[in-house]
Amino acid sequence: MSETNLHVVTGAFGYSGSHIARRLLNAGARVRTLTGHPERPHSLQRRVEAHRLAFDDPAALTESLRGARVLYNTYWVRFDHGDATHQRAVDQLRILIRAAMEAGVERVVHTSITNPSPDSPLPYFRGKAQVEATLMDSGLSYAILRPAVFFGGRDVLINNIAYLLRRLPVFGLPGRGDYGIQPIHVEDMARLAVEQGRSTDNVVLDAVGPETYSYRALVRTVAQAIGKRRFILRMPSWLVLAAAKVVGWFVHDNLLTADEVQGLRANLLVSSTQPTGTTSFASWLTDHADELGVRYANEISRHYR
Ligand SMILES: NC(=O)c1ccc[n+]([C@@H]2O[C@H](COP(=O)([O-])OP(=O)(O)OC[C@H]3O[C@@H](n4cnc5c(N)ncnc54)[C@H](OP(=O)(O)O)[C@@H]3O)[C@@H](O)[C@H]2O)c1
Repeated sequence: MSETNLHVVTGAFGYSGSHIARRLLNAGARVRTLTGHPERPHSLQRRVEAHRLAFDDPAALTESLRGARVLYNTYWVRFDHGDATHQRAVDQLRILIRAAMEAGVERVVHTSITNPSPDSPLPYFRGKAQVEATLMDSGLSYAILRPAVFFGGRDVLINNIAYLLRRLPVFGLPGRGDYGIQPIHVEDMARLAVEQGRSTDNVVLDAVGPETYSYRALVRTVAQAIGKRRFILRMPSWLVLAAAKVVGWFVHDNLLTADEVQGLRANLLVSSTQPTGTTSFASWLTDHADELGVRYANEISRHYR
């Protein structure tokens, strides 16, 4: 058993991990992060001890977890890029779970995705299910949180929808746009993670906000909030992806992948259980319309440059 109040967060200088780390610090915990970017300039640098996320050195990884009461894992890759693939992330997270067991970590709070499935044709959803299964079989106490999509803070998806709506006269929806999306505020996600860090029950919880939108309604709501009248049109998925590729050349990013479109259209970003987040997307949008989408949020720059 650990005697310290040490909590380890992967990616505390990243997006949701920084919200989790800040909450832990405010609650008086000692926080260490495991990250691919220990030197990244960040407001938490002086309050959080940073270690390399050493998947290539399991002994060092185990040492970096020793004494920790809880491990909060946010590590994952959004899309395959070079050798950073979903399959590699699954293998790496198996190494991390093994290291947590060897280090005597008491509990793991793991971030997954809504509706993961070992049979999914989509590597993101399949890989998430494989990692969940490894954690459940590990004997470690666990909480698995399954968010659909985050908003607030340094979010990518909602921000970039607004970015496109600010600049282009037409916004293409893959297909009818009638599939659902149930966003959760990143602070609600962080609250759930910290609450679950204190518990001892093995749980799997969808992390979703109080409002479910169709994708079409979500895009319309964002357009209205930022004051842009736009043509929001149904299009074949291939056309939306081709347009996203062209925009991607200008912004030097991978805007949208075919797998993400498939996941959306398969209605995988909604929950059939009670909302666990409380922040209203619509109210948040009203309060943040002026800044939303003013700058592009670049996934490739965040992780590869
Ligand atoms: N963002 C969403 O809307 C959303 C929706 C559903 C589920 N999730 C899940 O929530 C978790 C956290 O998401 P987030 O958006 O908050 O993530 P994030 O902060 O961008 O990244 C979380 C962690 O993953 C690492 N990472 C991400 N992409 C990587 C790459 N290409 N190569 C190497 N390392 C990479 C980061 O490394 P560094 O520490 O080096 O930065 C960080 O440790 C993930 O498991 C994600 O699948 C997110």
